[in-house]
Amino acid sequence: MIIHHTIEDFRAWRSGLESKTSVGFTPTMGALHEGHLSHIRSLYGHVDQIVASVYVNPSQFSPGEDFEKYPRDLEGDARKLQNAGCNVLFYPNDSEMYPSGFSTAVSVQGVTDRYEGFFRPAYFQGVATIVCKLLNVVDPDVMTLGQKDAQQVAVIQRMMIDLNLRSRIQVIETVREEDGLAMSSRNVYLSPGDRREALTIHHALLTAKVSIAEGRSIHDVTEIMRGIISSKFKIDYCDIVNPATFSTHVSPNGPLLAIFAGTIGSTRLIDNIVLR
Ligand code: PAF
Repeated sequence: MIIHHTIEDFRAWRSGLESKTSVGFTPTMGALHEGHLSHIRSLYGHVDQIVASVYVNPSQFSPGEDFEKYPRDLEGDARKLQNAGCNVLFYPNDSEMYPSGFSTAVSVQGVTDRYEGFFRPAYFQGVATIVCKLLNVVDPDVMTLGQKDAQQVAVIQRMMIDLNLRSRIQVIETVREEDGLAMSSRNVYLSPGDRREALTIHHALLTAKVSIAEGRSIHDVTEIMRGIISSKFKIDYCDIVNPATFSTHVSPNGPLLAIFAGTIGSTRLIDNIVLR
């Protein structure tokens, strides 16, 4: 696997590819686990070149969030990516992505108003800006994004339509531990006790799926979910929304997504499940 640290080096590699070479891309912030690697594996055999980026993007962290202590492990990440079949790792530093004088931001309206957009004010503008920049550098045919960050998928999808970005998004299912906890780079912060309580999230989401299939109302199912989540969580939200708009205005037989975010100990976890 080749590692490029600069945009110039990456572009020199990219422009050396034959024009019909297809490129798949997985953007990450590193601290890679099976969830990330499932993105690389989903591209394997379907594109000619697989590119991953590892960049802990400062602009998507709000003050007081875990930017400083966000786990970083270039050596481990590079080994895992190579073993999963990645061809090229783009690993820029801050001055490469945000050089002095940087003054631009991509701001997506509407779909960012609530949920993660409300609780993490800097988040989506930071994500949209860095993903737009990465797409401009990597120029992939397909980019993978995880279903676990469902609102991020909706925001980036909206940005790509609005800015006429050419890549296609491939959404990758959430990878879970055997007991159902959604994999996350932040799970390492959980104490054993909090980790056990965290299993109530998946239980609540699965129950929501069954309850909707049984014909229960959105209001009742939301209450059922909230009743299952461990009281040790400080819940930011636990709702049922339209997955494209992240609004609670849903059409009678339209798509539904159950979403959860909450903090246990000092760890904030999010998860979701497609209800229909
Ligand atoms: O989902 C993530 O890991 C990040 O938000 C992303 C898409 C790599 C942008 O920094």
